[in-house]
Amino acid sequence: MSTRPLRRAIPLFVRALSAAVLAVGACATPKATPTVPVSSEVVPAKGGVSAAHGMVVSASTIASTAGRDVLAAGGNAIDAAIATGFALAVTYPTAGNIGGGGFMVIRMPDGRATTIDFREMAPQAATPEMFTDSTGAYSATRHHRSHLAVGVPGTVAGFALAHEKYGKLSWKQLVDPATRLAADGFDVPTGLAASLAGALPRMNAYPASTAAYSKNGAPYAAGEHFRQPDLAQTLRRIRDGGRDGFYRGETARLIAAEMRRGGGVMTESDLARYKAKERAAVRGTYRGYDVISMPPPSSGGVAIVEMLNILEGFDLTAAGHNSPQYVHLVTEAMRRAFLDRARFLGDPAFSNAPMDRLLSKSYAATLRKTISLDRAMPSAPAQIADDHESLETTHFSVVDASGMAVSVTYTLEAGYGLAAVVGGAGFLLNNQMGDFNGKPGLTDSTGLIGTAPNIAQPGKRMLSSMTPSIIARDGKLVAVVGSPGGRTIINTVLQVVLNLIDFRMSMQDAVNAPRFHHQWLPNVLMVERSGLPPATIARLQAMGHEVRVGGQQGTAHSIFVDAKSGHRIGAADPRDKDAGAIGY
Ligand code: DON
Repeated sequence: MSTRPLRRAIPLFVRALSAAVLAVGACATPKATPTVPVSSEVVPAKGGVSAAHGMVVSASTIASTAGRDVLAAGGNAIDAAIATGFALAVTYPTAGNIGGGGFMVIRMPDGRATTIDFREMAPQAATPEMFTDSTGAYSATRHHRSHLAVGVPGTVAGFALAHEKYGKLSWKQLVDPATRLAADGFDVPTGLAASLAGALPRMNAYPASTAAYSKNGAPYAAGEHFRQPDLAQTLRRIRDGGRDGFYRGETARLIAAEMRRGGGVMTESDLARYKAKERAAVRGTYRGYDVISMPPPSSGGVAIVEMLNILEGFDLTAAGHNSPQYVHLVTEAMRRAFLDRARFLGDPAFSNAPMDRLLSKSYAATLRKTISLDRAMPSAPAQIADDHESLETTHFSVVDASGMAVSVTYTLEAGYGLAAVVGGAGFLLNNQMGDFNGKPGLTDSTGLIGTAPNIAQPGKRMLSSMTPSIIARDGKLVAVVGSPGGRTIINTVLQVVLNLIDFRMSMQDAVNAPRFHHQWLPNVLMVERSGLPPATIARLQAMGHEVRVGGQQGTAHSIFVDAKSGHRIGAADPRDKDAGAIGY
């Protein structure tokens, strides 16, 4: 550990407590084994699942098992991530997908790192004004709940690119497990049963969706067998044709037909021209640890490095985990990073963010000086605001026997995306275009943003908050982390990292610990239910924070590598009901 400079007390004041709702997720019993080996650096590893060779942690135990089997069959972490990703598209349809997109961060055993960007792209017919109605007024329905909200999917192209460059097993071996799960079916786990039942009302607008995800309109109960024959057919085309099995031919025709049916603008030509991209990872350091994360079009890597750089100048350990001082300082770092996110970040092919400055220690030092130790800084509504962003994405982490690490977050945007299944193809479409700003110049107090870097344009990738990340130290892999949760993602990952490094928690404790979120605007500090004691909330209010208490924040399925034994410690987040850490 390096710098531990400031240790300050923060005065107490009292203000009334406000209550509201944070994103609610599922709650479940942690899957933990009692004891695991201890690391010399990030210490006491309590809980989690320990394995000597390889580990996969995802939101679906069935999908983690598919990934683990690929590792055990001699596949590397990329292979296992691809197999897990395809399997999640079958067993975790709220966010697992082939109709969405995401990001993969890769660290090789020798320390080299790279990333695969498979974020959705805007169709060629996209325009800055596409989310306005005939009167020119912004329409949230067009933006988030219509076929105009569908971006050109990236997942299959991303997995194909990762496999082509870094995979070891055959493509067929990676798609087969998902194909079998869709064709033969699986017993519905409890989390999926509850989730599907909740999603059915939204799916009613789309007959292909109710056909795929219900028994003639009735929800599947936990334990019932669930087959997806159309999805199995699509997966066979992907298995046999690679990326062309999705972006050309029958699947592309079915997608284009669904677009015409629903009034969307994506065409077969948009699908054919989609490209996944390999990009240099964002890199930072924090108290001697290396942080490897995703560059734009995700804001996650830039924001987490900016926040860590700011926080490196405070003694967070002395402040105490989730103490008023700690929550205040971390919140003020969040506030500043989210302002920069809105000001500067978007698809790098369309706008130039000052990356060197945003990632520099000197810029962070300047920002740190603006933080009062006992007063919340006001946020200015005119500069940026909240917009619709849902909390349904999924993150999974993989480490193989050689030490290769893969961190993947991918999404349909909302839970079940648009809720529209492509007729005859059996998979859900994303509503990721909702991550573009709604309308140029429309930044208002209700929370809409109209800043230029993230306005819809043909072929542009919408700004994301997904933060798949990897932590290393002295050339050795330490942890693989990430989370879903819209903008809360960045702050969830930040807190998991702080829990590991500043508070030396075990991976499982770091994942389980209560979390909080601030995103500049709305000027609200959101805290997980039962996350902070009333006295802490009262002190934060006295500092000027508007605190709202709500449901769950993120599901951070992570892996820690014990420095002494080399064991992989998988920590499934208990906030996700069906999650599983499976190793060998
Ligand atoms: O890319 C993004 O940042 C959002 N579309 C992610 C949405 C999300 O995390 C919803 N999940 N839980």
